Amino acid sequence: MINFPSPLMLSRVLFGLRFHLILVLLLSQFSSTAYPVFGEAAFTNPFTLEYRWGKQGFGDLLMLAHQLHLQLMSSAENDKVVILKDFTYNSMDGDLMGVVRDSWILKSKPVPITWNSIQGIDTKHFPRIISSLDNDTKNLNLNATMSITSLYFLGKAIARAARLALVAEEVAHPVVIPHILKFLKNSIRPWLDSTFSGNGFLYESKWRARPQLGATYKPQAYSLMSDFMSQNPNFQYPVLRNFDLWKLHSWAAGIFEFPDGRNQESTSEAVNAYYAASLLGLAYGDSEVFELGSSLTSFEIMSVQKWWHVGENTEIYAEDFVKENRELVEWTSPALKRKDIAEGWKGFYYAMEGIYDWKSALGKILDLTGFDDGNSLTNLLRWVYSRRHCFCEGSK
Ligand SMILES: *[C@@H]1O[C@H](CO)[C@@H](O)[C@H](O)[C@H]1NC(C)=O
Ligand SMILES: *[C@@H]1O[C@H](CO)[C@@H](O)[C@H](O)[C@H]1NC(C)=O
Repeated sequence: MINFPSPLMLSRVLFGLRFHLILVLLLSQFSSTAYPVFGEAAFTNPFTLEYRWGKQGFGDLLMLAHQLHLQLMSSAENDKVVILKDFTYNSMDGDLMGVVRDSWILKSKPVPITWNSIQGIDTKHFPRIISSLDNDTKNLNLNATMSITSLYFLGKAIARAARLALVAEEVAHPVVIPHILKFLKNSIRPWLDSTFSGNGFLYESKWRARPQLGATYKPQAYSLMSDFMSQNPNFQYPVLRNFDLWKLHSWAAGIFEFPDGRNQESTSEAVNAYYAASLLGLAYGDSEVFELGSSLTSFEIMSVQKWWHVGENTEIYAEDFVKENRELVEWTSPALKRKDIAEGWKGFYYAMEGIYDWKSALGKILDLTGFDDGNSLTNLLRWVYSRRHCFCEGSK
């Protein structure tokens, strides 16, 4: 028996054929001309990533771009780029669109990286932060810190203390800085000198020491930074170890296999790694490192907003996925009431709440009885008091 197609099916087939015809015409327009033989991607200017393809044949190349490419191309001078809106290819990164051009310029939104909060803190909030700063400084415990042999947790403890010094500068309370600096020197030095028996830093022995702390340890600091943020293929480090120059963000698992496929988890670690690298450039007056770090910070942020923060109206992912993805507010808030949720984790949630409701977040932060080992009351207060709305209200 023959099944005749329903009118609906027939219209779909006809639509498909018409679409197919458009594709065939488009493809035949390009297939006989140019084809790519290699590609390059490089950060050429601040906040600018350039793709260039080598090609053979004649005419322009037809390539496919994802949604973030299209967004970043629109903010750059790409007058000669032709975007074929009808030429789409559905992929796990959403609809890819045809783009006709041998080179693309992708421009991200500039991030003005600096040591302190960008919006600033109203001086009327200084006393509250200073009182917490005095207490956190007094309680820095070198012995406890140096009993941590995991590099991950030792790093968090040191970074927590370094942040206290920055906050001290920001709230004009330099009296605590010498004590914090002493803690930092005594905790970082044994590690960098490899005298820290638990898990010392091993580095290339050809480097020589020079008199001052910053200069003495510059090779080690640069070696750590270059390990994940080198652009030079001639160095002994991989070019941008974790950063994916196509997707435009870093992979949490690097190039290792991951059971659930590609892994953009740990977005804040990625953003902070490039932020830290920019600060290293700032500290050593190295504009190249500062600019590359700033660019990567910015691309990473835009990429997180595009792929990882699944907005209600996103068209990239399937409807069901978007619907199930309303996790932070609807899923996390009730979960915070559970007895097994540590205070440290709540601190991060309240920090996020501080972005849209700083007063409510502040109350909850002041009630916390513990903090994540990389976090402190001082740090959360600095964060919540420097959110834009907070500053505006404070200025009224
Ligand atoms: C001071 O810090 C300690 C340890 O971090 C903490 O247990 C204590 O509650 C803090 N006191 C004040 C007044 O913030
Ligand atoms: C830290 O350890 C040293 C040596 O073991 C000891 O003399 C000192 O009292 C300890 N300090 C604190 C604050 O526990």
